[in-house]
Amino acid sequence: MDYLQIEGGAKLHGSISISGAKNAALPIIAATLLSDKELELSNLPHVVDIRTLLKLLTMLGGKVDYNDNVAIIDNSHINSHKAVYEIVSQMRASILVLGPLLARFGECEVSLPGGCAIGQRPIDLHLKALEAMGAHIEIRGGYVRAEAPNGLHGAKIVFDKITVGGTENTVMAAALAKGVTTIINAAKEPEVVQLCEMIAAAGVKIEGIGTNELTIYGTDRELLTFQPTRIIPDRIEAGTYLCAAAITHSSITLTDVDAHHIRASMNKLEEMGCRFDITEETITIHPPEVIKPVNLVTTEYPGFPTDMQAQFMAVLVKANGESLIEETLFENRFMHVSELNRLGADIWLKGNIAAVHPIEELYGADVMATDLRASSALVLAALVAKGTTNVHRIYHLDRGYDNLEGKLSALGANIVRLKETPKY
Ligand code: EPZ
Repeated sequence: MDYLQIEGGAKLHGSISISGAKNAALPIIAATLLSDKELELSNLPHVVDIRTLLKLLTMLGGKVDYNDNVAIIDNSHINSHKAVYEIVSQMRASILVLGPLLARFGECEVSLPGGCAIGQRPIDLHLKALEAMGAHIEIRGGYVRAEAPNGLHGAKIVFDKITVGGTENTVMAAALAKGVTTIINAAKEPEVVQLCEMIAAAGVKIEGIGTNELTIYGTDRELLTFQPTRIIPDRIEAGTYLCAAAITHSSITLTDVDAHHIRASMNKLEEMGCRFDITEETITIHPPEVIKPVNLVTTEYPGFPTDMQAQFMAVLVKANGESLIEETLFENRFMHVSELNRLGADIWLKGNIAAVHPIEELYGADVMATDLRASSALVLAALVAKGTTNVHRIYHLDRGYDNLEGKLSALGANIVRLKETPKY
């Protein structure tokens, strides 16, 4: 296993390019099952989760020609409708093949995604939506078995909670259903928008894209022909680097980024004293000498993103006052708190609220990544901790960040990837 070794104290400078969004690429890769024609996806991030889902496509019979950032996918010869535990347990977003497989073939088996460090993350809303569209769903032996032998039909779906994956699965299923599907209380994250736009560009009429109410006019199992698609920039990666600049009081520029997608994060950084120069595809951040404390409440897009919560907590550790952070989407997304406290932070938890108290200094230590965004928060703190920090279990990081240590090194950080050598 690898770990990252970071010497704190370096200032950052220069610019870095933001990679394609993992959370846009994953549903789009699943959506390619709605087609039997070859298509090209570009600007894919070079991360483990993408490779895992492409591997699942090949296990289903798909043909995938993939180099670092481009995949040519041909799902004309799918010969299996079973997404096995070995893959789904590695990456829960594999559940996104459920809707397209069911809509196209009328039956499929998908392993239930296991638990996750940040919360229980059930898929009840996905299954309820598909049942409303005529699917017969049975859960047995850790698998979801779904059948719709006569195809799916349009339905009116009202989500009890806003669910990104649930919306994506339902949109993909509705695309091939017979009749009209309306989704009320739909997610409208930029990643959901790009999925809808790609399906609409294939000839499926979709109304309300970018709003909380979507209406999809299904093709009654006529397969789709997709246009070549370039994945949108990763707004969470971009926000993470803005946090790296803020915590090190460095001015850096991000290129290939869409500032519209990260307004909530940038707004909070402005409250913390940062200023920005923005163009169509670049953002330059100018942090203050002293970070001001702020209160954060995570919520669905376009509100403050839960996927930025850990990174902002790391920055607020160095603020000159107390900040309160409320996590409203996941029940256990504070695993980074105890690790940040190992570095000298003074963060107190009460239920789903964290109180970040001001401290003088952070000091390097051995810390352990627990989930994807917690890992990046530990790296951010290590950039300003006195001395050496070793961040272990960074396989979590590799699932969603494209060459994080390479990009930070290019900005001037002292960070290297090393191999664990067991000492005891
Ligand atoms: C997506 O997960 C993202 N992953 C997550 O990013 C992100 O944190 C999350 O949306 C929220 O924005 C991908 O896009 C691959 P949800 P998803 O369904 O779709 C509850 C990262 O760091 N819920 O919107 O799984 C659920 O428990 C990852 O890149 C149900 O109760 O999230 C959670 O509390 C982490 N029943 C809330 O809804 C359901 O059937 C939001 O979950 C589905 C969800």
